[in-house]
Amino acid sequence: MLSSQLIALALAAVTSAHTVISYPGWRGDNLVTNASFPYGMQWMYPCGGIPLTHNRTYWPVTGGAIALQPGWFQGHATAQLFINLGIGDEAPDGGPLNMSLPMVPQFGILGPSKNPYPGTICLPQVPMPANLSLSVGQNVTIQVVELAVHGAALFSCVDVTLVEPNDPRLNEVNETNCFNSTDIGFSDVYTITTRASGQAQAQGNGTVTSAAVRTLSQVAGWMPVVVGGLWALL
Ligand SMILES: *[C@@H]1O[C@H](CO)[C@@H](O)[C@H](O)[C@H]1NC(C)=O
Ligand SMILES: *[C@@H]1O[C@H](CO)[C@@H](O)[C@H](O)[C@H]1NC(C)=O
Ligand SMILES: *[C@@H]1O[C@H](CO)[C@@H](O)[C@H](O)[C@H]1NC(C)=O
Ligand SMILES: *[C@@H]1O[C@H](CO)[C@@H](O)[C@H](O)[C@H]1NC(C)=O
Ligand SMILES: *[C@@H]1O[C@H](CO)[C@@H](O)[C@H](O)[C@H]1NC(C)=O
Ligand SMILES: *[C@@H]1O[C@H](CO)[C@@H](O)[C@H](O)[C@H]1NC(C)=O
Ligand SMILES: *[C@@H]1O[C@H](CO)[C@@H](O)[C@H](O)[C@H]1NC(C)=O
Ligand SMILES: *[C@@H]1O[C@H](CO)[C@@H](O)[C@H](O)[C@H]1NC(C)=O
Repeated sequence: MLSSQLIALALAAVTSAHTVISYPGWRGDNLVTNASFPYGMQWMYPCGGIPLTHNRTYWPVTGGAIALQPGWFQGHATAQLFINLGIGDEAPDGGPLNMSLPMVPQFGILGPSKNPYPGTICLPQVPMPANLSLSVGQNVTIQVVELAVHGAALFSCVDVTLVEPNDPRLNEVNETNCFNSTDIGFSDVYTITTRASGQAQAQGNGTVTSAAVRTLSQVAGWMPVVVGGLWALL
């Protein structure tokens, strides 16, 4: 129930990378930097500094649309996005204790430049995590994490009540609120195994121990089991 005016207003206030969940909505405006959040509110785990809300919106129990304005990346053209589900009420704010249920594989977005840019992306059918039994009327939280190139992450959430996919209380999903701006590209994130967990150490054959690893093991008493080519790049 976030009006487009509010989104426009919120984005106008953005000065660096931030995420607005434009559909189905968000917990509230956390595009704030002030004395309580001197580094910016949206960097706070798990939901960008806003505790559980009670003005929930509705979302289909079978999964549905999520539209984002990933914001403006001062100095970064790319980011990784994660969309997770949190269930339960065991957290101090009465919400989920964690948001540990990924709904889609993480994906990359590619902005047009290192300058700030507006724009919307929308995944029209984000599924529920597999093998989770969710019921109509259940309260859950959807978390969007935007991982910046420097490794810090921005958090934004929306608290929803699950309803049947044809429930009239659902906000209509259409080309006004669910679209991909042409200036934001997508990328797949592949995980390439360079050494499997438990794989035996290769001896000799040009394997290099980097100075950084040697120093770390001396200082911390930490002994790397395998020192391979990857470390040599450090
Ligand atoms: C809940 O209320 C806050 C504060 O008024 C508002 O910013 C937010 O958009 C509302 N959330 C939903 C899902 O309507
Ligand atoms: C900072 O902004 C947040 C969100 O609007 C608010 O809850 C908090 O009280 C503010 N802190 C100060 C010191 O103004
Ligand atoms: C879901 O949340 C709403 C709003 O906070 C609350 O009124 C309702 O009782 C909750 N439902 C369940 C099943 O906990
Ligand atoms: C996440 O929270 C759920 C519900 O409270 C709990 O069952 C689960 O063990 C938690 N998972 C992790 C990884 O903490
Ligand atoms: C879901 O459950 C089925 C049947 O038990 C199992 O084969 C499948 O691997 C499970 N999927 C996930 C993602 O856990
Ligand atoms: C799209 O749906 C929203 C409500 O979610 C509505 O306000 C808007 O008018 C609709 N746009 C079109 C083109 O139907
Ligand atoms: C936006 O692009 C993504 C990635 O290609 C795609 O999965 C999604 O369906 C697109 N959204 C719309 C509304 O076409
Ligand atoms: C070293 O490399 C050679 C040639 O690739 C290979 O035959 C040999 O098994 C390797 N030795 C070890 C200990 O990995």
